[in-house]
Amino acid sequence: MILLVGNWKMAPNKDTEAINLAKKISLSAKAYKKSITTVVCAPAIHLPALIKNIKTNVCFGGQSVAPSEEIAQTGLINSAMLKGYGASHCIVGHSEVRARGENDEQILASTVSLLQKNITPIVCVGEKERDGHGWYLSSVKEQVEKVVLGVAKNQVKKLVFAYEPVWAIGKNAAREATVAESREMIMFIRKVIADITDEKTAKNINILYGGSVNEQNAPAFILEGGAQGLLVGRVSLDAKRFTSLMKALSMIS
Ligand code: PGA
Repeated sequence: MILLVGNWKMAPNKDTEAINLAKKISLSAKAYKKSITTVVCAPAIHLPALIKNIKTNVCFGGQSVAPSEEIAQTGLINSAMLKGYGASHCIVGHSEVRARGENDEQILASTVSLLQKNITPIVCVGEKERDGHGWYLSSVKEQVEKVVLGVAKNQVKKLVFAYEPVWAIGKNAAREATVAESREMIMFIRKVIADITDEKTAKNINILYGGSVNEQNAPAFILEGGAQGLLVGRVSLDAKRFTSLMKALSMIS
C-alpha cells in the first residue's frame, strides 16, 4: 500500500474551494484505493468543513501542531484540537515551519503530543543543502535521532518519516532529487532508526519521499527511490495533476 500525502500548504483561501478540491481528490482516491491510502494535510481552518463534507476515501491531517497544550501559544493549534476535528495525521517539522524557527526539541514534543492523541505524525527530515563531504548526513541523522530517541519505545512503529531535501522543495527548488539520492537517504534514515531500535522496527516504518514530486517522477521514487509513499505539495492542489499522479502510482502496485 502506497501512502500518498498531499500538503496543501497555505491554500486554498476559502472553505468552498477546499471542499471542491477535496471532493475531486476523494473520487480519484476511491478509484485507486486498492493500492493507495490518500491523506490530505490542509490548513487547520479548513479541517472541520473538510471532515464534515468528505467522509470516505481520504483521511485528513494538519500541517503542524503546538508542542504542548499550554495555552500561551498564540496562533498555534494543539493536538487535542486536531483530534477533536477528526484529523488522523499531522505533518511535523516541515522545512517551511522549521525555517520559521521550529527546532528539534519542539518537533519532538509535537510528535509526542500527537502520539498521545493517536494521530499519526509525519515527521519531515532533510538537509538544507548538500556538500561534497557528506556532512549533510549528520544533520539528517540528528533530526531522526532526536525523534526516535525521544518517543516511547513502543511508539516508534507508529511514526511516519518523510525525507524532504530542502533544496528540492517548492517553486524555488534548486533541482529535483534523483531516485538514487532518495534511495540512499531513505536507506540511511532506516539505518539510523535500526541502530536505535531494531531491524524489524526500522523495516516496518513508512518513509516517504517529498520535494517537487509530480505525475512523471512519482512512480520512480517508489520503484527505485526506496520510498513507501510520497509527500506532495503543489501538485496536490491541482486535482487533475494529483489524479494523474495517483493513476501513475496505481499502475506500479
Ligand atoms: P512541493 O512541496 O511538492 O511543492 O515541492 C513539498 C512539500 O511541501 O512537502
